[in-house]
Order: sequence, then structure tokens, then C-alpha cells
Amino acid sequence: MRTIDWVDDGIELIDQTLLPERCETLRLETVDGLIGAIRRLSVRGAPALGVAGALGVALAVATERDPADAITRLRAARPTAVNLAWGVDEAARHVAEGFPAVLRRALAIRDDDIAACRSMGEYGTALLTGLLGEDGTGIRIMTVCNTGGLAAVERGTALGVVQTLHERGRLAEALALETRPLLQGARLTAWELGRMGAPYRMIVDSAGPFLLARGHADAVLIGADRIAANGDTANKVGSYALALGARRAGVPFVVVAPETTVDMATPSGAEIAIEDRPAEEVVTLRELRLAPHDAGAINPAFDVTPHDLITAIVTDRRIVRLDRAETLASVPPGPRAAMPS
Ligand code: MRU
Repeated sequence: MRTIDWVDDGIELIDQTLLPERCETLRLETVDGLIGAIRRLSVRGAPALGVAGALGVALAVATERDPADAITRLRAARPTAVNLAWGVDEAARHVAEGFPAVLRRALAIRDDDIAACRSMGEYGTALLTGLLGEDGTGIRIMTVCNTGGLAAVERGTALGVVQTLHERGRLAEALALETRPLLQGARLTAWELGRMGAPYRMIVDSAGPFLLARGHADAVLIGADRIAANGDTANKVGSYALALGARRAGVPFVVVAPETTVDMATPSGAEIAIEDRPAEEVVTLRELRLAPHDAGAINPAFDVTPHDLITAIVTDRRIVRLDRAETLASVPPGPRAAMPS
């Protein structure tokens, strides 16, 4: 099952706002429809946003009177995940060659995401084996938000590593943070882990650091929306608290993301634009009012984990051991890891 695809001259995607109760396909035939779907998180997760951006350019060229304006608006639909702008720019480079060339590039980005996620599964598993050994008791992973197939095309990034561990009989348990306010962990990650048949339990976000202190996880794996040149990493809000807890507990904290999430043009986390989402999402829970009617709220969708709290960054083409003073500049991307047949 693909999270997002091009079907009969339009974009079809799993509407993630309806999960886990309903798994329905949303069909989009206009750029404004796609921008709305991105903003309300019907499609979300950095790699999936990259594919949505690229396919959206194809839609713009096919349907818009002024494709350039539509492409600019699409690129700005969400600010933090660099993959959206990257996917848009990659496809937009082919606009002058016409629709078939744009679509060809967008479909290549879709297919490449699948290969990248398989490679991250391999590199991530190899890293964890190196860090934790292979004593046969299985690995316990804590994770936040949703970084699985729903955040990509077929297989995920951090949750893709969890899936690889599970497929090899090496996952003892995944602990999934619920991920307030929009519950990507409770609604989406739990749904995916259940479909995999993987052992998992949910925890409330605030329990994460304490459970690390009590020894409930062997490693924390997170995805990323943008990794700055110095390794500072923007990801779902709550990641930073987990990184602090992991450091205090002596637990490895690993970022798993494709090369397309590395943004060498952004020097550090201080320069990453963090999306502010509506206060309404904080004071309500899936349409249930939680706080008094006049309550205000601050709602950053992401936070930034400083590079010195990150043990390693795993991409589809390298493992960068920040804990050994390696940097994104000192470890160049290499070949993809092959999945054993
Ligand atoms: O607001 P979301 O649901 O798009 O946030 C997603 C995340 O923070 C993910 O961890 C990140 O995009 C990596 S997805 C493989």
C-alpha cells in the first residue's frame, strides 16, 4: 500500500486525518486542494511531503493557468520540512520541458523514497547492533510522532528501522509517544505497528524521559524534518525532551532521515523556521474542548534538538557518529545499503 501516488492524472493519498478509524483514499486534482491537504495533515511526514510537492508541480503544470504562482504557494504550504521545498524545486526544474518531464521526475522521487527507506532500515539496524550488541534479548526502542510508511511512500525512516528489527526477530518492544496535540503516535504509529504485528505500547509524551531514566528503552529513534549543517535537528515537538532524557539516562539518541532532509544551506538549528500551528489544536482534542473558551495557547509543531545531544544521524547513504566527533561535512554520503535477499 502506498501512502501517496499519481493515479489517472491526479494525486491519491491516504487521508491521515481519518486514521485509525477509517483508511480512506483522498483524490486531489487541484493544487489548492493539495495545499489544503498538506496544511490539515491529510498528508504529512517529511519524505511524503517531498513526494507530494513534486507531484503537486505536475498537477500545477497540468491544470493551472499560472503554474509558477501555484508552485510558489505549494512550496510554502508548510515551512519546516525541507523535503517539501526540495521536492517542489526538483520537479519545477523540468517545467520548461513540459508536463511529461515534470511527471517523470516526480515519479522518480516517489520510487527513490522507497529505496532510501530500505537502505535506512539496513544502516539503522547495523548502527544499533554496533551500539548495543546482539545478545538475542531483543531491542527496545522509544519513538515519537509517526515516521513509518505513512510519513513516506511505503516504508518509513525511524519506524522503518523498527520494522526491519521486527522482521528480523530483533525487536523486543516499541514504546510510542502519543504525540500531542495531533496524536500522530497514538493514531498513526500504533496503527502501523499493529499492522506489522510488532510488540508495542503507547506512552503519554511526558512519560518519555522518566521511562528512559527507569531503563525502559535501549535506544531512542526519531525522524527529522530538517537537519542543519551542524547536525541540529528539527523534528516533532517533544523530540528535544527525549534527547535530554536520553543523555541523562545514557541511552543512544539516533536521528534517521533521508539525505533529502539534510539541509547544508542552513548552518544551525537557530535558522530553522518552526511552524506555528493554530492554538485550537492545543485547547481541543479531536473536537472535544479541553480548556476554557478564552484559553490561548502556543503550538510549535516542531522543536530543535542540538547536535551535541545526538548520538548518530543515519541516512540512506551514511552513518554519522556525532558522539565520535564526526560531522555531516566530514562523512560524505556513500552508496545505499542493500537489503539481504
Ligand atoms: O507534523 P508532522 O506530522 O508532519 O510531523 C512529522 C514529523 O515530525 C516526523 O518525525 C518527520 O517528518 C519525519 S517523518 C519520516
